[in-house]
Amino acid sequence: VSGKLWGGRFVGAVDPIMEKFNSSITYDRHLWEVDVQGSKAYSRGLEKAGLLTKVEMDQILHGLDKVAEEWAQGTFKLNPNDEDIHTANERRLKELIGETAGKLHTGRSRNDQVPPAPPPPTLQPELSSGCACVHVSGRVCQEPWSLRIPCPCSGAIAGNPLGVDRELLQAELNFGAISINSMDATSERDFVAEFLFWASLCMTHLSRMAEDLILYGTKEFSFVQLSDAYSTGSSLMPQKKNPDSLELIRSKAGRVFGRCAGLLMTLKGLPSTYNKDLQEDKEAVFEVSDTMSAVLQVATGVISTLQIHPENMARALSPDMLATDLAYYLVRKGMPFRQAHEASGKAVFLAETKGVTLNQLSLQELQTISHLFSGDVSRVWDYGHSVEQYAALGGTARSSVDWQIGQVRALLRAQ
Ligand code: ARG
Repeated sequence: VSGKLWGGRFVGAVDPIMEKFNSSITYDRHLWEVDVQGSKAYSRGLEKAGLLTKVEMDQILHGLDKVAEEWAQGTFKLNPNDEDIHTANERRLKELIGETAGKLHTGRSRNDQVPPAPPPPTLQPELSSGCACVHVSGRVCQEPWSLRIPCPCSGAIAGNPLGVDRELLQAELNFGAISINSMDATSERDFVAEFLFWASLCMTHLSRMAEDLILYGTKEFSFVQLSDAYSTGSSLMPQKKNPDSLELIRSKAGRVFGRCAGLLMTLKGLPSTYNKDLQEDKEAVFEVSDTMSAVLQVATGVISTLQIHPENMARALSPDMLATDLAYYLVRKGMPFRQAHEASGKAVFLAETKGVTLNQLSLQELQTISHLFSGDVSRVWDYGHSVEQYAALGGTARSSVDWQIGQVRALLRAQ
């Protein structure tokens, strides 16, 4: 006996190089727990279909509990022949309970065992950085991932000929639905693509946020200051403080996108039903999930320790930023916006020609452009007043910012 799940029709040994190339146990071992859960549910399905006696089912359930215990305690010993987690767990079950273990796989394929072992998104606690990121994450993490995957249990390709109740398995394993078509079920990896896309979108937002903070943290801007806890130094330039946390967040985005694009490339050329190419999904999921976990923790640390310098932001204000407000002033006096835009542009030009700032133009000078300008135009040059006039939801007014904070808090509470 080769120790493999498929030895019968093979003669001679597999080339050791091929053995290593084919094996996924080095990374799919992380799925031990969900693999055991899937097998426990399946043995209940077999008992219900009359394919296992109650005694046999209990034997298998106890054996699987023992297998899980060994994994949990770190005492599970892998054999060189353990091709993947499914093989390893069944091999160990047989060592523990004997031949009854051989009944567990009745009507089942390893292809069925892969989707019940989806990426467990356990990132919720770390999802507190960046409003947009919270928004994107909320859509994915509010429900258990299994609800998003149709339960397969369709054998290798053609379905189940032995009367196993798929709805029972769906309920036992907390899937949202059963898959509609057995051929599709064994090879559908939309849930993996969705996870990788979600991670990519999340990283897009985090990377943009990182870029903003890197720029605003430069000496020239000094709008924000990164905590030393999230910075590193230079081996050559003693004065230097590098925003490495943010630069790495920005770069990890590229890796995550690569994994997402890589999986889509793998999927796009595949003929229908299971092909071994699909085994590649796991490394992508594990790597991205580890990356996301680290990135979200670092991003949270960066944001929660960031120093903000409003005085430097105030210094960067310049009156020409108020040219749009000047146009709105004229709109409020009854001028159509197109004309108001033109008039404000002329004021900017006049100030530039005279070598003064926009707010230094006299009322008489402004009146050469439009007779609608009067004494109250001086209010336009008040930055605080400018900020407060954008009071619609989502704008810059204090009331609107408070509303935005409330919205983000509500999103966080919903995670
Ligand atoms: N380790 C394999 C995977 O993750 C299990 C499926 C094997 N099925 C097969 N037909 N070779 O994809």
